[in-house]
Amino acid sequence: MTLPRLRHLLTLDGLGEARLHALLDEAEAMLPHARGGTALRQVLAGRTVCNLFFENSTRTRSSFQLAAQRLGADVLNFDVGASSVKKGETALDTFRTLEAMGVEAFVVRHAEDGAVAALADAAGPGTALLNAGDGRSNHPTQGLLDMLTLRRHKGRDFSRLSVLVVGDVKHSRVARSDLQALRQLGCRDLRVCGPAALLPGPEVLEGCTVGQELDAMLEGVDVLMMLRLQRERMEEGLVPSLEAYFADYGLDARRLARAKPDAIVMHPGPMNRGVEIAAEVADGPRSVILEQVANGVAVRMAVLSHLLGA
Ligand code: NCD
Repeated sequence: MTLPRLRHLLTLDGLGEARLHALLDEAEAMLPHARGGTALRQVLAGRTVCNLFFENSTRTRSSFQLAAQRLGADVLNFDVGASSVKKGETALDTFRTLEAMGVEAFVVRHAEDGAVAALADAAGPGTALLNAGDGRSNHPTQGLLDMLTLRRHKGRDFSRLSVLVVGDVKHSRVARSDLQALRQLGCRDLRVCGPAALLPGPEVLEGCTVGQELDAMLEGVDVLMMLRLQRERMEEGLVPSLEAYFADYGLDARRLARAKPDAIVMHPGPMNRGVEIAAEVADGPRSVILEQVANGVAVRMAVLSHLLGA
């Protein structure tokens, strides 16, 4: 069965198991080229990709840039902070301006939910939009790179896995995309743990076992997904203190011992060391955090070449 090419990548919701595995297979094929080399420089030669980030980023922006360059594309790293956005130009006018210069793929991050989908609605027929994170809603390439990391460690059968997502789920677009992907890939034991004030609504938690006692929730899990405490998106007072948060929800080596002996620890970054994760775990043998980063380049190469029909 060949699946039709996607026009944009705005969310993982609704893509389905076959499509998700197909995208992960495409990413897997990119892995040997994700750290450099010239073998794939013709794939997007002559095509233009723009990184349009209205919010800060280290991993996502750099890896999209490297992914596009390793496929030979021209890359415009649009600096919002030094642009006419500061003179009041809207995101839509900025987008149309760059589209008029021949940009065919826009990688967009924005603080507002739905902002990237709104640009996709306004896009011309030859323009692809990639959501690099909108508000709390979606971060589809992070979801894909997390699934690739998980699949490479635990195999293609997600139905046997116990996955625990810990922390600030309420503000996390990563958690939303990961949970959407895990459900579609057939994961049956999905657990979410965090303080009540940081849990999202029931629509996000569908099919999940939800709890507030981390020690109990850790029992027998294969995969731990730790989340950053997103203080920039938080109303005041949701967390009493960072020390208290670490005591209740921080992952240290003692706690990790409750998970399965071969459990892996993931974190999308940026990490708050000593808040949601102890350095001994972040840098320890069960951490796959830097593998996630490396897999991110391959995922973004696959998605860019897929959307641009290369
Ligand atoms: C995340 C993001 O921006 O949503 N980071 C990332 O893309 N790897 C998570 C976060 O900011 O906590």
